[in-house]
This record gives sequence, C-alpha cells and structure tokens, in this order.
Amino acid sequence: MSEIIKVLKGTKDILPQDVDMWQFTEKKAWEVFSKYGFKEIRTPIIEVTELFARGVGDTTDIVNKEMYSFEKSDRSITLRPENTAGVVRSYIENGMSRLSAPVKLWYKGAMFRYERPQAGRQRQFHQVGVEMFGIKQPAADAEVILMAVNFLKSLGLCDLEVEINSLGCPKCREEFKTKLKSVLKPYYNDLCEDCQNRYEKNPLRLLDCKVEDCKKIFEKPEVQAVINSDFICEECAQHYNELKTYLDRANIKYVENKLLVRGLDYYNRTVFEIKSNNLGSQNAVCGGGRYDNLVEQLGGESTPAVGFAMGMERLISLLDKKEAAKLDCFIVSNNTQEAFILAEELRNMGYTTEMDLSNKKFTKQLEKASKVANYAVILGEDEINAGVVSVKNLSTGEQKTVKREYIMEIL
Ligand code: HAM
Repeated sequence: MSEIIKVLKGTKDILPQDVDMWQFTEKKAWEVFSKYGFKEIRTPIIEVTELFARGVGDTTDIVNKEMYSFEKSDRSITLRPENTAGVVRSYIENGMSRLSAPVKLWYKGAMFRYERPQAGRQRQFHQVGVEMFGIKQPAADAEVILMAVNFLKSLGLCDLEVEINSLGCPKCREEFKTKLKSVLKPYYNDLCEDCQNRYEKNPLRLLDCKVEDCKKIFEKPEVQAVINSDFICEECAQHYNELKTYLDRANIKYVENKLLVRGLDYYNRTVFEIKSNNLGSQNAVCGGGRYDNLVEQLGGESTPAVGFAMGMERLISLLDKKEAAKLDCFIVSNNTQEAFILAEELRNMGYTTEMDLSNKKFTKQLEKASKVANYAVILGEDEINAGVVSVKNLSTGEQKTVKREYIMEIL
C-alpha cells in the first residue's frame, strides 16, 4: 500500500458533521450584518505582496514572519493573512468612494498566517469580518462594536468581554512613543529580542509582549505611569468619550485596556477586542478598530474607516454542538425500482429522503432508517399493489398506511 498523504500542519478539514455549525454561523452573519445595511464582498485569496507590506505594516509579525509568499511571473504574490487590506484595495480600485457614505462591506473566508499552530491558532483559518468606509464620527465605531456583540448574541454567545482602547492619532501617539522609549531605555538590554526590535521600529507594540520578563519591566511604577498617562489629544479624547457614551447607552459592557494595541499597524484612535474565558491563551474571538489613514496610504482619497474580523474556528469551538440533522424520510423496500421513484416524489415534495441502494435485507434497512431518519416510509409488495405506503414515526413507533397522494398529511 502507498503511504498516506496527511493534511498540512496548522490546517484542518472541516468534516460533514461540523459543516452544519459553519453554515449556521455564516447564515447568522448574513442575517445580522444585513440588518445594519452591510453587503457581502468577495475578494481574491491571493494579492500582490506589496498590498500587505504597505497595508498591514512592515514592522508587524504578520508581514515579517508569517506571510505565505511566492514568485510567479516575476511578481511576488501572497496568500492573504487578513482581509482589511484586500477590501481597501477593492474599495479604491472599484471607485466605491463615489457611492454615498457609509459604504458597508462584510466578508467571510480563509486567511493564511505561518504561525506556530496551537489550540485556537491555525495556519489556514477563517474570518468573518466587516469594514465601514466614509464616517469619521464615533457613531460608526459604536455601530460596528454593537453589531459584533449582537452577532455573537445571535449565536448564543453572551459570556464575552469587550475591551476597548484609544491609540490616538499619529501626532499624539508620536509623543507617547517618545515618552515610552525614554522610560524603557534603562531596561533596553533586559528586553526580549522581539521587544528590542519593536523598541526601534514600533514601540507601541512593546505593550503587547507576552514574555514574562518583559511584562515585569512594564509593571514598574515609572513605566506604568507612562502607560496610564492620558496621552491622547483633545480631539482623540472627545472621540473616545463619545464612543463610550454610545456604548453605555446601548448597554454594552466594556473594559478599558490601556495595553490593547493590536498586532496590525493601520489603526488609529479606537481599537477593540472581544474575548472569551473559555478559549485558553488564544482568547480573542474578535479584533478590530479604526483605520483612517489606510485608504490614502494605499493610493485612494483620504477616507475614514472602521471594522473588525472574527476567527470562525474560535467562534465555532464556543458553540454548543448541535446534533447532526436527521433525514425526514428513509425508504424501506425490497423493490429498488419502485423505491427509487418514490424517493424522488418525496424529494420533490420537499422532504430530505434517502433509500437503500444496495439491496440490503428489509430488517437491515429498518435499522438504518431508525438511525438516520425521522420517518421510515415502507413500501412492501402489498403496499405497491394497493397503491399505498406505510409511514412509521421512528420516535413514537406509530405506523399509519395511506394512499401515496396523501403522504404529506402524515409527514
Ligand atoms: P486580527 O486580530 O489579526 O485582526 O484577527 C481577527 C481575529 O481572527 C482574531 O481575533 C482571531 O479570532 C482570528 N485569528 C487571527 N489569527 C488566527 C489564527 N492564526 N488562527 C485562528 N484564528 C485567528 C485582523 O485580521 C483585522 N483585519 C481585523 C480588522 C478588520 N480590523 C479592522 N477591520
């Protein structure tokens, strides 16, 4: 026998018994996002590498370490690690700025990051996400957060924590970065290698480090004083305060987390995550925020924007496993030709129906019916001669015989 080929590390098959949950989640996303006026967009899985280098940021782990890139016809191409950059590219390329604002788009699909696989972290994973273009006011941030929470509630997930923070604008953030660097300078040699890099290239991301020794440094009183200082300018503070008022009025509970900086470079002002205590270390089901400079950075007109994405594998792992749906009918008959025709009649009436295709014994067929269907539709020679069928309710055991044309009255 030849050696079997296995699925790639960090990727998974979604098997038939689990697909119901995926379809349920995707349908809820469509239902909830449509209520808020979002329309679905489908962009390619491959894009030119430069889109992510310029969009997501060349100091991020995603761009530096995690992209699946390859050369084809002298172009560097990348499997999308996230979809905000792709949607922004499409927004610009298709002239969507001519549409009346806000332009509201949602998407679902596979993303690829070459990360170390662990529970809740895969190399191919799926996101469902939204992007809203054209509104600078905090009402837009509040609407997408409210919609994210309502989507999660529609899936039956209520026990989740919303965390928010404001990263300010490039101007006020610059001052903060300078202060952070100066207070951390004495500890530079004690920082991990990643943090030393971040110190030079993107000091804000220092706050996101999970290494214990670094965390201890960030807990020092003088560092905490800088982290907890209200560094954001007056306009940014007003935006943040208004957002909080919207969330309070919508009864959305949230926690303010000054350490929430997110792993992508495009954010300004609002950032948020929604976390679950039931997911272990990879506990974020949703991440998002405002990115008012990205459209311009990717060659479009200056356009404010805000959005989020959720990891579908993480969402689905939190849902109660539903029992696989049973068939409506399974036909039990020794006359395969007649059963074949009856099965199609039942399907045309709208019932999910299967039959035995391999001439199994009558009793074996009945056994199978009781495992996979709600009703056994029995078609013996007597029934065929009399133009009737016997319908057995497989949960109560009740059995009735009716003319074929009246079968709908029983099922
Ligand atoms: P992100 O935080 O990188 O943001 O990803 C969003 C969500 O995708 C995470 O909260 C997590 O649930 C899921 N996720 C990320 N990486 C993995 C992985 N390796 N395995 C499984 N699930 C994962 C973004 O992608 C931004 N584009 C979100 C956004 C949209 N911001 C504005 N608009």
